[in-house]
Amino acid sequence: MITVTVCVGSSCHIKGARELIARFNEFLSKKGLEDKVELKGSFCMEHCGEGINWKINDEILTSSDVEGGVKMLGKKLRLALKQGKTKRPAKRAVRRRKKA
Ligand code: FES
Repeated sequence: MITVTVCVGSSCHIKGARELIARFNEFLSKKGLEDKVELKGSFCMEHCGEGINWKINDEILTSSDVEGGVKMLGKKLRLALKQGKTKRPAKRAVRRRKKA
């Protein structure tokens, strides 16, 4: 599951965080990604003054406007989903029985 977190602190709110969340929701449902991406809000990410701040998993991102944020979300999700698919499952430990 990929987590997208949008800052809803006062500075980001003024810059359009609420609209960004609405557009992210729209994007996720349009692309059928609701079951793969969790969208959350958070308090201040301590990057005020840089734009609208949001995260994809642990990567903090800044968008100067809502449209730019939606485009960036599309790019970042494509990458994250690609990486998730190419991850190989962990090798299983094979135990051999000792011959008696
Ligand atoms: S209010 Fe969003 S980073 Fe501070």
